[in-house]
Amino acid sequence: MSENIIFITKPNGKLTGSIRVTGDKSMSHRSIMLGALAKGTTKVSGFLNGEDCLATIKAFREMGVEIEGPESGHVTIHGVGMLGLKAPEVALDMGNSGTAMRLLTGIMAGQNFGSVLTGDASLSTRPMRRITRPLEQMGASITTRESGTPPLSILGDHQLAGIHYDLPVASAQVKSAVLLAGLYAEGQTSVTEPAVTRDHTERMLRGFGYEVITDGNYMSLQGGGELTACNIDVPADISSAAFFMVGASIAQGSDLTLEHVGVNPTRTGVIDILKLMGADITLSNQKEVGGEPVADIRIRSAVLKGIQIPEALVPLAIDEFPSLFVAACFAEGQTVLTGAEELRVKESDRIQVMADGLLACGADVTPTPDGIIINGGSLGAGEIDSHGDHRIAMAFAMAGLCAGGSITINDCANVDTSFPHFIKIASKAGVNIAII
Ligand code: S3P
Repeated sequence: MSENIIFITKPNGKLTGSIRVTGDKSMSHRSIMLGALAKGTTKVSGFLNGEDCLATIKAFREMGVEIEGPESGHVTIHGVGMLGLKAPEVALDMGNSGTAMRLLTGIMAGQNFGSVLTGDASLSTRPMRRITRPLEQMGASITTRESGTPPLSILGDHQLAGIHYDLPVASAQVKSAVLLAGLYAEGQTSVTEPAVTRDHTERMLRGFGYEVITDGNYMSLQGGGELTACNIDVPADISSAAFFMVGASIAQGSDLTLEHVGVNPTRTGVIDILKLMGADITLSNQKEVGGEPVADIRIRSAVLKGIQIPEALVPLAIDEFPSLFVAACFAEGQTVLTGAEELRVKESDRIQVMADGLLACGADVTPTPDGIIINGGSLGAGEIDSHGDHRIAMAFAMAGLCAGGSITINDCANVDTSFPHFIKIASKAGVNIAII
């Protein structure tokens, strides 16, 4: 059990100045995985020194990969090549990270040794059949608990064969697990996704010199190739930036710039949704860094209005709904989210846990099986439980900017999984928040 770190907010903050939030979590995980499997030395900058990505580093060290850092965002990975991993002597503990576990399972399915992947209490309740099913179709042998949850035991030593897989859920983690296993499979591996999801795996594979074909919602690659080491500049994480986009939008008098944020079009749903709500967001300094678009994002406070959130934007903003719910609470009118049942199987059941917290602060919200209905107005003081979910904790930290009184947020230790130094950066930007 982690210590009960508690955040306490005070109202009447506004966000100003210029900040750079921590590195992108999705890209940081992938940089370690592909760097480890590449031939040669990969140098990463902007790496997220959060617990989730450190779990990925630790797992590859257990398999004999020499990794230096992270030090000030710099990591050096001495790649061992596609077949150079060594059998780990211990179970690989992926902590709180669904991304680490699901992507690594794809890689482990292709090894000639067995492995066991475990996780913390939250990860141990998350669905894994979504990856074991396609990987077993490719020839892998993986056991889960009867409930389809971790720990995972991957037998290894099974030659994989390429398949085509129609993803039943719009999940970049499932897509990535299949494509990464496909690196080890005979012939072609392809997927079709029901809606566009983040494409960092495809982009980064190309950066390592591996051909991946993308045609709309269809992706494919041929097994048996090699990865060539490269340098990776990880931009700031738009999912971490999102808290500040919401905070600056709702806190009157705010004018905040978020520097060097990854604005890959498969991740920018939060900007589109906030703009539909009337937010004042402008992008500048747009450029492409290592195959990924980045920009500075300026947010000025605005009067928000409730909207029906277009379902096509849901996978493009999948991690940003806790903070978007907060924005909806301060908007005029009703916000309705549908088609987002995936939120129920994240680090917590984000529909229920957010609804409980917002209700505790006096909001008018109704959870539904696949979303939520929020009647905007205001929030009052309250005490909430983040259920160990980093994004719930940080969303309520932003709610505290405009709430009628202080919000006490329990169980915040896991903020360190994705956003170390959140309190320091939030305080610098103007959030009145203390940690006890
Ligand atoms: C991620 C994909 C998303 C997201 C997660 C990171 C990734 O999960 O919620 O935080 O890095 O591929 P799903 O693909 O399961 O929706």
